[in-house]
Amino acid sequence: MWTEEKLNNLMTTPSDALAEDVKKIKGDIMILGAGGKMGPTLAILAKNAIKKANINKRVIAVSRFSDSIARNVLESNDVEIIACDLMEEGVLDKLPDVENIIYMVGRKFGTVGDEILSWGMNTWLPVEVAKRFKKSNILAFSTGGVYGLTPVFDGGSIETDSISTTSGDYVMSAVGRERMFQFGSEKYGTKVFLYRLTYAIDLRYGVIHDIATSVINDNLSLSKHHFSTVFGREMPTKLP
Ligand SMILES: NC(=O)c1ccc[n+]([C@@H]2O[C@H](COP(=O)([O-])OP(=O)(O)OC[C@H]3O[C@@H](n4cnc5c(N)ncnc54)[C@H](OP(=O)(O)O)[C@@H]3O)[C@@H](O)[C@H]2O)c1
Repeated sequence: MWTEEKLNNLMTTPSDALAEDVKKIKGDIMILGAGGKMGPTLAILAKNAIKKANINKRVIAVSRFSDSIARNVLESNDVEIIACDLMEEGVLDKLPDVENIIYMVGRKFGTVGDEILSWGMNTWLPVEVAKRFKKSNILAFSTGGVYGLTPVFDGGSIETDSISTTSGDYVMSAVGRERMFQFGSEKYGTKVFLYRLTYAIDLRYGVIHDIATSVINDNLSLSKHHFSTVFGREMPTKLP
């Protein structure tokens, strides 16, 4: 995978199974927070699956679009755009009623020093979205960070692990996001699905990217540092 073009093609080419799956979805799809790392490829993949299935379905991408490249690439792939700041008063009311909401808004970087804004974006906004789209199906992205750290050789967290209550503001506010969507689901009977990710999108970001960058730069001490700081122990000379 040597070019971004190939990577983007791979990530936006639907499988036959996905094209079959989209036929089962009733109504349109609206992605809130679509302008970030994952939104553009996800929206285009959905649109391409709809085209492959030969059906009509709108895919609407909502974001501030601070990155105009994301906006352009979405528009040129037939994804509809609504540019707005979801934190602004009254904005949610102006959005169209759509049966399927994918919620990708979040604030992680910059939390230290401005914790209040992260709580607003991660916990207050979900309250408003759960209320506004109570008649929709909501898929809310969350983070594996809610589990807290575990030793690397334990194999990682699993869904039945309990939520960490000793983490910083970002994780606590992300737990708040999950709880508010769950509360909305209980209160209004909304179908809500929580989808926890752990530092993973594609080759441009994430753990594999960090390790590969260290290897390319011949900076093995950085790799070692990464492991020892993240997991609180020395990296073994030989992996099991
Ligand atoms: N990628 C991962 O590995 C990972 C790991 C754990 C959890 N997650 C979860 O998955 C979600 C999606 O991941 P991602 O990597 O695509 O996140 P991301 O890069 O942070 O994208 C979220 C996007 O939401 C938009 N947004 C933020 N505030 C907004 C506002 N007030 N109004 C409108 N749009 C707003 C921003 O784009 P604009 O600047 O265009 O508004 C931002 O880029 C995250 O929110 C996070 O909760 C992801």
